[in-house]
Amino acid sequence: MMNLEQEISRRRTFGIIAHPDAGKTTLTEKLLLFGGAIQTAGAVKSNKIDISTRSDWMEIEKQRGISVATSVMGFEYKDLKINILDTPGHRDFAEDTYRTLTAVDSVIMVIDCVKGVEEQTEKLMEVCRMRNTPVICFINKLDREGQDAFTLLDEVEEKLDIKVRPMSWPVGVGKSLRGVFNIYENNFNLYEPNKQKKATGAVEIQGIDDPELEKHLPESMVNELRDEIELVNGVYDAFDEKTYLNGEIAPVFFGSAVNNFGVRELLDCFTKIAPQPQPRETEERAILPSEKKFSGFIFKIHANMDPKHRNRIAFVRVCSGKFERGSNYYHVRQERQFRFSNATAFMAQKKETVEEAFPGDIVGLYDTGNLKIGDTLSEGERGFYKGIPSFSPEMFCEVINMDAMKSKQLDKGLNQLMDEGLAQLFTYELGSRRVVGTVGALQFEVLQHRLLNEYDANARFEAVNIYKACWISAKNQDKLTAFIKAKLRHIAKDKEGKPVFMAESKAWLQMVQENFPEVSFHFISEF
Ligand code: G4P
Repeated sequence: MMNLEQEISRRRTFGIIAHPDAGKTTLTEKLLLFGGAIQTAGAVKSNKIDISTRSDWMEIEKQRGISVATSVMGFEYKDLKINILDTPGHRDFAEDTYRTLTAVDSVIMVIDCVKGVEEQTEKLMEVCRMRNTPVICFINKLDREGQDAFTLLDEVEEKLDIKVRPMSWPVGVGKSLRGVFNIYENNFNLYEPNKQKKATGAVEIQGIDDPELEKHLPESMVNELRDEIELVNGVYDAFDEKTYLNGEIAPVFFGSAVNNFGVRELLDCFTKIAPQPQPRETEERAILPSEKKFSGFIFKIHANMDPKHRNRIAFVRVCSGKFERGSNYYHVRQERQFRFSNATAFMAQKKETVEEAFPGDIVGLYDTGNLKIGDTLSEGERGFYKGIPSFSPEMFCEVINMDAMKSKQLDKGLNQLMDEGLAQLFTYELGSRRVVGTVGALQFEVLQHRLLNEYDANARFEAVNIYKACWISAKNQDKLTAFIKAKLRHIAKDKEGKPVFMAESKAWLQMVQENFPEVSFHFISEF
């Protein structure tokens, strides 16, 4: 039997982030293959939502099913328990991804070497930076005619605002790809395109000057490689684990996920350097994973596939102590005890009942509407876990009730769907206007569809001209009250009852900011 400390120290919980199509699904699958969690390639379904079929509801429902199955993929590798948290790639579900990143201890970022750093990756990196999440970078698709390695690294440093340290180095690219020199392990990996095989051919060499290299590469390539490695070691500081763990420097690997090339090196380095479950802040104090009492928070809620039963699965990140099935836990927001007899763990694609779980693990709890995103569960501790913020939506629509007889159904549906984090609801102080904000247009379609099918409520969403929802604060409470009074027509409450200023345009917001210098405007709900 392992004790709590041992269970904690063997856990690694991370997320893979990437712009769609960079190779996240492929890499996940290869990692699971190494862990023996799956036997064949093709077993991991992409969670991508195909735009061409977006009005096809069956398709969206199917996609939702897939994304439950791949929400958490756990596997064992070299005595470690590794949990991969899936992050939706579709832009419209970015908010989901941000929240998932609050539940990980580190991140692997996949970049396509042809396309370089793409928009979505920049946004996701911002979220990592908010919590100083350690990042390892995997530059993928080396079998394609990609950009020069130095250029790519510069781009990562510039666009993602993080320093890099190459841990491996490509020899050739695209058609001329011959292998990768592993700076971290000091060996050379010959490239042989092979989509299924587990191991690639590592050539044992003693450092970059080993004549063994010449047996495997033409002389010109060996010389070029030696020059480049010299340059790399001159330009970039030596790898230092501490700067990685502080989120200041991202170690970089090169490879080709689909060819299973460079993936083992990535995984082996990850298992050595990636952080074990870390302490987390509540409103009251920092809680250590090794504290005996269980605590955790909910970062994701998934509606059940069967619309007739409003069962949902709430995903809890265990932060401290041991979670035991059937125990009573304290629901901090509702200030009462709940018994969770129906807990699910996730191992690769299989769901299984879980008897106990440890910090770093994700547990799925069946819920009928008591839990919402950001909720904290504990063994009596009263502080909420911090760091599960809402971001200002990008699109805003007013909710129009189309059936006056069904306003109760609509209220209930809206409330529950907001708890799931599908969108954000803002209720104006004046009148009863309700505005829903989302990241993309797709959510409005999903909302309308689900309100009708699951709650028997008929609502229309009418676009309103709002630029951003700004959470507001001021050092002097009187100033805030005065501001709210002056702008009452544009003040709404968010789901928690916090006041929000609904800014109609960028220019107008700037003007208001100038007129009320003592009020702070935030695009994020935690500040
Ligand atoms: P995502 O989850 O990040 O969106 O990307 P995904 O893994 O689905 O990969 C996107 C496409 O890129 C897939 O091709 C995949 O096979 C391909 N890919 C992944 N890694 C590599 C690589 O190292 N080299 C090359 N050349 N391609 C790679 P697809 O055509 O969209 O799908 P499929 O039919 O090939 O699976």
